[in-house]
Amino acid sequence: MSAVFLKFVHIIAIAGWSAGLICLPFLYLQRRRLGGDSLHRLHNFTRFFYVALVSPAAFVAVGSGIVLIFLQATFAPWFSVKLALVAAMVIIHVTSGVVILRLFEAGQSYPTWRFVAVSTVTIAVIAAILVTVLGKPEWTIPAGLEHFFAPGALGEALGDLIAWSR
Ligand code: HEM
Repeated sequence: MSAVFLKFVHIIAIAGWSAGLICLPFLYLQRRRLGGDSLHRLHNFTRFFYVALVSPAAFVAVGSGIVLIFLQATFAPWFSVKLALVAAMVIIHVTSGVVILRLFEAGQSYPTWRFVAVSTVTIAVIAAILVTVLGKPEWTIPAGLEHFFAPGALGEALGDLIAWSR
């Protein structure tokens, strides 16, 4: 039951995070037409949207996902691919925050090519995560790398380095 509830929370948070990352470039695009009071209002709203809505949704999505790992014991190759794609989503999230810091300074604007590029990459990453998670493809670890991914392999590889912990 707790896993079902947590998955529900995970999916709601993911919907909020993904929607937020897709919407942010639309807000950045509005900046070039504005000045004075309207610019301050857009700045205020964009910061609120990022800090109070999108970032908490990202924290809840990642936090609930981490707890789900322990409840569902998801140790399959598709899950490693999903986590790599989630890392890309986190990078998009952080760079979006850096854009907000600079965009509202005098003389700045958000070019259309950047809007198209960022929106395309964001939608592609989110779609790839959903296809991976919902399809759960039966990927296998390439021959020769099985030993590297076996449980305890990191401990063996770093044996001397972490000997103090024994
Ligand atoms: C660090 C971040 C994340 C972690 C650790 C994580 C972990 C997990 C785990 C363990 C499950 C349960 C898998 C299963 O039932 O076999 C799950 C389900 C799911 N995750 Fe994530 N997740 C993360 C982020 C995301 C993101 C960013 C998305 C989408 C954009 C996403 C989409 C989903 C979906 C749709 C499910 C339900 C899959 C199903 O029930 O078949 N997750 N997640």
